[in-house]
Amino acid sequence: MQRLTTRNGLNLPAIGLGTWPMTGTECTQAVRQALELGYRHIDTATAYANEAAVGQALRDSEVPREQIHLTTKVWWDRLAPKAMRQSLEDSLRALGTEQVDLFHIHWPGQDWDLARSIETLVALRDEGKARSIGVANFPLGLLRQVVETLGAPLSAIQVEYHVLLGQPALLDYARRHDLLLTAYTPLARGQAAAQPVIQTIADKHGVLPSQVALKWLLDQDGVAVIPKASSRDNQLANLAALNVQLDDQDRLAIASLPKDQRLVSPAFAPDWDS
Ligand SMILES: NC(=O)c1ccc[n+]([C@@H]2O[C@H](COP(=O)([O-])OP(=O)(O)OC[C@H]3O[C@@H](n4cnc5c(N)ncnc54)[C@H](OP(=O)(O)O)[C@@H]3O)[C@@H](O)[C@H]2O)c1
Repeated sequence: MQRLTTRNGLNLPAIGLGTWPMTGTECTQAVRQALELGYRHIDTATAYANEAAVGQALRDSEVPREQIHLTTKVWWDRLAPKAMRQSLEDSLRALGTEQVDLFHIHWPGQDWDLARSIETLVALRDEGKARSIGVANFPLGLLRQVVETLGAPLSAIQVEYHVLLGQPALLDYARRHDLLLTAYTPLARGQAAAQPVIQTIADKHGVLPSQVALKWLLDQDGVAVIPKASSRDNQLANLAALNVQLDDQDRLAIASLPKDQRLVSPAFAPDWDS
């Protein structure tokens, strides 16, 4: 499996398994199966209410914990220092591990003390409860504040990114500041594969449209993907996306698709252009 690294120590497999919205036995089975098939990167969050199910799969699996990259996240209503600490403690207990590999703030807070939250995030890393830290769903302005004004040693950002939503500014910033960008909703929840342009490219190479959508992301420097898949066939197909070969003509055709189709923007989302 292709891996992505940062100079400050993050080292993660380029393809991970997204676990939302799976919970309970369905989630445990999907994660266990993914580990059997060769996945070594699992994405969860307290908000998904599935960390205990993921933890069960980790215990069931024969794959040693140290070979698995585990990401979790703290929800935006628990960003005050004590609450964030408690959230990570709860995650570690549910997951049955002493350290996660990557710990993200899931969304920016509302009326929050940004500096204190970031200080706590960094402290949790320094204490070894998280090997690396990052933020999700931060617009560029806020990310710059965290990295440049507060000097936080972030290793990654996680944002929505797929063939129908561009992220040129964040990607450029990430590359210049040694951050990996994890693309969530990388299949645009089926909408990527439904595009005739993507289907034509898939037919040309004799592969699946979903694989074209994933490989377009994977071909970009510093980009990891976390497609959610529950079935064995879909999990295998997504892993095999790494073998797809796209050419310049394909990339030109994909560039012509609209790049403003954001699928995830809840009421508490930040102003994306801020
Ligand atoms: N940080 C955040 O705020 C945030 C927000 C949203 C999502 N995420 C993370 O990103 C992960 C993925 O995002 P997502 O679940 O929104 O969307 P997605 O990965 O773009 O799409 C998931 C859907 O695609 C289907 N699928 C998977 N592989 C397929 C294949 N090879 N062919 C056809 N269909 C396929 C899945 O079906 P089956 O399950 O039936 O296989 C599922 O219905 C989440 O699970 C979560 O971990 C993070």
